[in-house]
Amino acid sequence: MATRTARIDVHLTAADARADLRADVLLGLTSQPKQLPPKYFYDARGSVLFEEITALPEYFPTRTEAALLTAHVDEIARLTGATTLVELGSGSSAKTRLLLDALTRGGTLRRYVPLDVSETALREALDALAVRYPALALHGVVGDFAAHLDRLPRDDGSVPGPADRRLVAFLGGTIGNLEPGQRAVFLRGLRGALRPGEHLLLGAGLVTDPQVLVAAYDDAAGVTAEFNRNVLHVLNRELHADLDVAAFAHVARWDAEREWIEMRLRAERSMAATVNDLGLVVEFAAGEEVRTEISAKFRTAGLAVELADAGLAPQRTWVDPLERFALVLAEAV
Ligand code: SAH
Ligand code: AVI
Repeated sequence: MATRTARIDVHLTAADARADLRADVLLGLTSQPKQLPPKYFYDARGSVLFEEITALPEYFPTRTEAALLTAHVDEIARLTGATTLVELGSGSSAKTRLLLDALTRGGTLRRYVPLDVSETALREALDALAVRYPALALHGVVGDFAAHLDRLPRDDGSVPGPADRRLVAFLGGTIGNLEPGQRAVFLRGLRGALRPGEHLLLGAGLVTDPQVLVAAYDDAAGVTAEFNRNVLHVLNRELHADLDVAAFAHVARWDAEREWIEMRLRAERSMAATVNDLGLVVEFAAGEEVRTEISAKFRTAGLAVELADAGLAPQRTWVDPLERFALVLAEAV
């Protein structure tokens, strides 16, 4: 059987990614407190670790969102009539199959456009989808959803039929990994990339029992700890740094005021590390913490206001019975 190759646009080249990494690490490790952006977790190993996290007993978001999708995809297909499904931070595109199947059943879908910073995850996902959906046009984008929303493909002539009607899926609660200010800019940018009547399907974690949340980010098997420390392996490899990865402990805390989980790496002893490519020596005090991720949790009313403020009118909100996760379908107005 002939294998199909999906079209892939690279808006984030290896050189761009490296320049971003250099700038972010220089700023982040010379700031007080130190911090590193979460997008650098996702090299090939980090993407595999994330997939392992999604199957952990403590990590409820993925299966909760999958259950919501299973229950409501046909309604989503009917309400959107999407011809193109765009997905931001698509990763393995595993849950996306529920949407692809429903939009195919609905008879409207012609094209799937996954966008991710992780080229390995994107290529693997597309290879699997090419086999499973032979009639679907696949158009991957290696890109940063915080920088490349204006480059989402639209009617490019590659897919015959009536005008493109896009549904953008942003699943998994990844919106919570943006700082509140970045989030507002992101949502406005997304609205700007859509035509009135096009849709966003947003998956977002909800504020719930802090014990349940902390366990989800500090699992007993230590997979999340490995995922967290993976960013240090990325720095060692990409910037020729000599961080002693084993000397950093995984920390996951609930910030009740800001309503987010914060992941950090705590230096277990005082040490210095050299980031050779930056000509930088970084000192860590014993007990010093580097913030590596926030994972904001939402209240449905607040989420609706944030979306509406960006010109994305919520049409439907579905919440699981334990009220831990929400799916919101919003229309660009
Ligand atoms: N949507 C999937 C994967 C979530 S993991 C799910 O719900 O399970 C977050 C994904 O977003 C990863 O695949 C990661 O590579 C990607 N990602 C993180 N930051 C990104 C950014 N700034 N731009 C594009 N993709 C990003
Ligand atoms: C991708 N993102 C939504 C995950 C989250 O839950 O914030 C990343 C993650 N971090 C630790 N575990 C999973």
